[in-house]
Amino acid sequence: MGQFDWKPDTYSELIRSEVPRYDELQEQAIAAIPFPPERVLELGMGTGETTRRLIEAYPDSWVIGLDSSADMVFRARENYDDVQLARIEDPLPEGPWDLVIGVLSIHHLRSDAKKNLFRQVREQARAFVIGDVVKADIQVAPIDPAYDFPETAADLAEWCGGEVTWEADDLAVVRATY
Ligand SMILES: C[S@@+](CC[C@H](N)C(=O)[O-])C[C@H]1O[C@@H](n2cnc3c(N)ncnc32)[C@H](O)[C@@H]1O
Repeated sequence: MGQFDWKPDTYSELIRSEVPRYDELQEQAIAAIPFPPERVLELGMGTGETTRRLIEAYPDSWVIGLDSSADMVFRARENYDDVQLARIEDPLPEGPWDLVIGVLSIHHLRSDAKKNLFRQVREQARAFVIGDVVKADIQVAPIDPAYDFPETAADLAEWCGGEVTWEADDLAVVRATY
């Protein structure tokens, strides 16, 4: 899933070829949101697929998106007002957040950076939803060892103090409420 292949114009097609259950993962991430959120921080917004689904489900929510790719930020800003060029391993914008959500972005961090991120989220958010590629017996998505660092779903759940709400092949959704 090496991120440097991704360009906003071809992302949608490429991600669905690498992650055939991409749409199911998105649906399950939205389904895991535990209550209607107002202030939402999205980690690794990409082209805004999760954002679109979240706002459709919760029209009163306000989403601030972060992404480290200038191309993705440029594209997302066409549709969303509040998109920031930022790395999710750096200090997060100040909360409090009703919800922090990240789909297919957190696996780009190594374990220590994930744990550090999870500590920040726990301090500032009421709920956390992760949808991501995980270490599993059946590995469908191509893993680039330089950019992709999947964990098991159980480790993600333990590190963020949450539970696994959905798992299929090498994909999982984890939810925590604080
Ligand atoms: C596989 S895409 C997922 C995009 C979107 N969340 C989705 O579900 O389609 C991963 C996104 O995370 C962004 N990303 C990767 N590493 C990041 C980091 N360290 N900080 C912020 N964004 C990052 C990439 O630029 C890309 O837009």
